[in-house]
Amino acid sequence: MSDQTRKILVTSALPYANGPIHLGHLLEYIQTDIWARFQKLRGVNCLYVCADDAHGTAIMLKAQENGITPEQQIAQVKADHERDFADFLIRFDNYYSTHSPENKALSEMVFQRNKDAGYIVEKTITQLYDPEKGMFLADRFVRGTCPKCKSPDQYGDNCEVCGATYSPAELIEPYSAISGATPVEKDVTQLFFDLPQFEQLLREWTRSGSLQEGVANKLQEWMEDLQPWDISREAPYFGFEIPGYPGKFFYVWLDAPIGYMASFQNLCQREGLDFDEYWQPDSKTELYHFIGKDIINFHGLFWPAMLDGAGLRKPTAIFSHGFVTVNGAKMSKSRGTFIKARTYLEHLNPEYLRYYFAAKLNNRVDDFDLNLADFAQRVNTDLVGKVVNIASRTGNFVKKFGGTLSAQMDNPLLVREAQEAAPRIAEFYEQREFGKAMREIMALADHANGYIADKAPWTLAKEEGREQEVLAVCTTALNVFRLLTLYLKPVLPGLAERAEQFLAVEPMTWADADKLLLEHPINKFTPLMARVDMAHIEAMLEASKDSTPAAATKKEDDRAARAAEQSDGHIDISDFSKVQLRVARVIEASHVEGADKLLCLRLDVGALGERTVFSGIKAKYSPEQLDGRLLVLVANLAPRKMKFGVSEGMILAAGPGGEDIFLLSPDSGAEPGMEVG
Ligand code: 2FM
Ligand code: ZN
Repeated sequence: MSDQTRKILVTSALPYANGPIHLGHLLEYIQTDIWARFQKLRGVNCLYVCADDAHGTAIMLKAQENGITPEQQIAQVKADHERDFADFLIRFDNYYSTHSPENKALSEMVFQRNKDAGYIVEKTITQLYDPEKGMFLADRFVRGTCPKCKSPDQYGDNCEVCGATYSPAELIEPYSAISGATPVEKDVTQLFFDLPQFEQLLREWTRSGSLQEGVANKLQEWMEDLQPWDISREAPYFGFEIPGYPGKFFYVWLDAPIGYMASFQNLCQREGLDFDEYWQPDSKTELYHFIGKDIINFHGLFWPAMLDGAGLRKPTAIFSHGFVTVNGAKMSKSRGTFIKARTYLEHLNPEYLRYYFAAKLNNRVDDFDLNLADFAQRVNTDLVGKVVNIASRTGNFVKKFGGTLSAQMDNPLLVREAQEAAPRIAEFYEQREFGKAMREIMALADHANGYIADKAPWTLAKEEGREQEVLAVCTTALNVFRLLTLYLKPVLPGLAERAEQFLAVEPMTWADADKLLLEHPINKFTPLMARVDMAHIEAMLEASKDSTPAAATKKEDDRAARAAEQSDGHIDISDFSKVQLRVARVIEASHVEGADKLLCLRLDVGALGERTVFSGIKAKYSPEQLDGRLLVLVANLAPRKMKFGVSEGMILAAGPGGEDIFLLSPDSGAEPGMEVG
């Protein structure tokens, strides 16, 4: 299908309306936004919709806690979410709420059609009930002592200390997390979606190429044990009451994915689009859901089955991504790495994060480590040092010599090379291999910078009568610059817009890659992007610590205090196994100005990416001796701020120090990123 006839509907998972957007969420919205922007830039009719996921017990309780109605609660959160997304340059075609008339009607329709087709069954089950609050308790609202390891205060479904899973009724001395009352068991009849009836359909669907390999395998496993899915909840519940079942409500996970349709329907009504064209079983349009790996079962099993049961189309594909870690560890409130979107925006440019995500993203389900030192280094090196540098080294000369690009370029081949990269880069974007696209673009930037350094227009400009030559060099460089900012436009729409303004061109589209900018007046060059300042990152971490709810910090601190008390100078094997030892290869070793003992090492740690480590081995090793060498790295040491920068790990060596220090080196057949044990 040609680009111009494709019609795509794309979604990101709907964020819950009970809390702020944080960096963990943003990976997905930025990933989807880049992909949707790329499609639009190519001229594809691509629509990107999303909404707040507004229903459920958690939201109802949050509103109670805040002393407002659930409607007020979700309206406030939606406004905050929309502002955060807009400031991260995430451009939805529609952002809606699952608490909408469209979603109510569509949920009822999907339910009714499934019911008429015999896919809804009733079953009586025993559930825990809070007699004080007068409500049934979901597993996560029951707490008690773990039946296995006896740790107090664990959730009703799994123990955070020993990892055991169990049913809430198995907890010792269970209590309601809402009122503190002891729950009682009560029988209740619920409605179930009869998933086992869809086994054949789901087997075919998971093999149809609609899923990433790892995801398809996971679903195959679940397929062995399909169970009917409980889709109703008892009052009080914030959601839609089920027609014909007074006091029963649709479970939030039933109407959440239907929220994708509802947001789209709302857009259709506003823009006069044909809703049915996108949702009929024989639809020629494409439907893609970007989601996190934790909600694959909802999107890979329940959702296609429910759609099929209602006589609607299934998604074309599901694109899952992994979890975000910060500096190699789970986001933590006490470390200040649980960073809210708003806190980030108060300290740093959103395009830095967009670029860093793009530079490291691929189309697999891998977890994503936001390493803050690497983040700063990569943005500074690539965007400021490579891309923007092309314009800042040449733009002023054009202004100085008349303000218009020349008719001829000094090096048309260099520009041709950049033009010829367009289809390759486009294919990487299409395949969600954004990291590969960024690498192609940066390689082109390297060529352009090498060329500028060779030609040294700043020297030529000082010589009498060589203005035309200078202009021809700068025209070459700025033509490459224009192409690079076009290729980066899905990731960096703000930078692209500033470049368009500087080059005095209309908003660029992908087709403009064929064009050249000759005999064209441009504007005065003004700085397009500032360097990332580590001090701003530090300030953001500090501010994230401040916004920590006291209880969350306390829990982590208590745990640390307990661990310290139990320590008698020995550590047990479980403590030792927390240390991640990894093979690393030295990419670059350098002296550190002003430091007598330290070397700065840039390390390749395979899948963990690149790390910068300061190490006191200068008395024994010179940078040249270390180039390309394999080392053992403690990979999960919290980054330490040193006088000369942030050290992201520690390399292992033996000996008393000074010249008597010996680096531990793994076997030369080892690969960066391998575990050492
Ligand atoms: O996991 C979550 O955050 C859910 N609110 C995602 C819902 S996605 C869709 F199905 F609505
Ligand atoms: Zn336990």
